[in-house]
Amino acid sequence: MSDIEQISAQALADIASVQSPDALESLRVALLGKNGTVTAQLKQLGTLPGDQRKAAGEAINLARDAIATALSARKAVLEDAALDARLAGENIDVTLPGRNPQRGGLHPISRTLERITDIFGRLGYELADGPEIEDDWHNFEALNFPPHHPARAMHDTFYFPPDGSGIARLLRTHTSGVQVRYMGEHAPPLRMIAAGKVYRSDSDQTHSPMFHQVEGLLVDEHSTFADLKGTLAEFVRAFFERDFEMRFRPSYFPFVEPGAEVDIAWQQPDGSTRWLEVLGCGMVHPNVLKSCGIDPERYTGFAFGLGVERFAMLRYGVNDLRAFFENDVRFLRQFA
Ligand code: FA5
Repeated sequence: MSDIEQISAQALADIASVQSPDALESLRVALLGKNGTVTAQLKQLGTLPGDQRKAAGEAINLARDAIATALSARKAVLEDAALDARLAGENIDVTLPGRNPQRGGLHPISRTLERITDIFGRLGYELADGPEIEDDWHNFEALNFPPHHPARAMHDTFYFPPDGSGIARLLRTHTSGVQVRYMGEHAPPLRMIAAGKVYRSDSDQTHSPMFHQVEGLLVDEHSTFADLKGTLAEFVRAFFERDFEMRFRPSYFPFVEPGAEVDIAWQQPDGSTRWLEVLGCGMVHPNVLKSCGIDPERYTGFAFGLGVERFAMLRYGVNDLRAFFENDVRFLRQFA
């Protein structure tokens, strides 16, 4: 056997027995690399006598091609084996519980708002809307608050700096301004509900500078205080899914006459009862009807404004209103 035949036979045997891609690569370099054995054979061709060169050259080329083919075949086999081994090691355990993406949920205040507007929707109230940046006329003036009425200070309003237009702008302190807007655009008989954010300079366990109110308004030819009481009793029953003792406490709001605050009897864990104020209400003042172009001789109406956070606190048993706005997911997740 010539040198090249021996080298080739040995190389093919080595290739067949190599067990890893790295070892195969070393073998390739040792055979076909710049200083490899097959390459050395090629370099020696020049030293051979002319009549042997052609045959020797062909033999070396044949050997080199056979080795290259064997190398790539073995490479494919080793790579397949490595992939099989990896797949076998990475067995998927189909019994493992899945990793679900974290699901979001509605904020408890949004849920409460939806619940309230849904109940009034079923009672035939139309959902209306108004701006959070309100002007003095809609928030106070048209609601029968005269210019220097102390009730304006009572609200502790956030005013915007004067913009030269002569119109005082403010963050609405209640949703009652929507009454004015709605009556300006709709003729009685009418029923509307408005829900949204309101702002006051207030902050403690039961007051927040931004909170939510739902306003209700009904105007027709026959509405009475008895209708107002019946409507609110029905709403409270539907909201809490049980009956409550309610107390209508006379109170003053310039846009209603008579006016009342409504408390509900809340059972404490120790068995005692606490009266909790949840909303303000009353019969729409004739001056308000007049300022909205409605004849107070013909029409009467009632209105109410409730604090959404108070209802959420009672329904969910939360005793600090600020927890709703701290955005602690551990707290909020309980309601999702
Ligand atoms: C009003 O805002 C009147 N506009 C309600 C009204 C409407 C009366 C229509 C008559 C006719 P009052 O300031 O009481 O009223 O607020 C209404 C409710 O909002 C309160 O009963 C309370 O539940 C809630 N509330 C008031 N201030 C805050 C506050 N800072 N944080 C959270 N809730 C509040």
